[in-house]
Amino acid sequence: MRRMAAGVFCVGVAMVIAAAVGCTKLPPPTPIAELNAQQTHGYNVYQVRCAQCHNDRSNDPLNGQSLRGIFKKQYLASGAPANDDRVMDAILYGRPMMPALGGSMTPQERDDLLAYLHTL
Ligand code: HEC
Repeated sequence: MRRMAAGVFCVGVAMVIAAAVGCTKLPPPTPIAELNAQQTHGYNVYQVRCAQCHNDRSNDPLNGQSLRGIFKKQYLASGAPANDDRVMDAILYGRPMMPALGGSMTPQERDDLLAYLHTL
């Protein structure tokens, strides 16, 4: 009986540590080779439209903050909730330091871009 209690305790400690680590370390983006067709198209849109200002696969800020794990976090840098609507607002209408880009993209390109951002 004693032994079993100790075992349960250890599992509990391991889970607490995993949860604590999970707060600071987001799961990695999907590897590019594993993207589906829509996500791959979105990746290409990203390279043309976003990559000069935002890193997607490293946490380092460029002109703007990294978009790695953008939908795995609860909030965007501005404090807005990290959801499709708020991210699409940033793309369509821009931010104080970011040009509005959505008008020059087709609805399909915008959808594909969102699909890619969800893999980060
Ligand atoms: C010319 C540089 C530039 C380009 C191109 C650019 N951004 Fe930004 N973006 C910024 C800067 C700078 C910020 C942070 C400062 C600000 O909010 O004004 C930002 C902020 C953001 C935010 C955070 C919004 C928030 O509420 O915190 C998102 C999301 C974002 N960009 C997505 C994108 C996406 C997706 C693209 C490609 C379609 C893109 N950006 C292209 C410069 C850029």
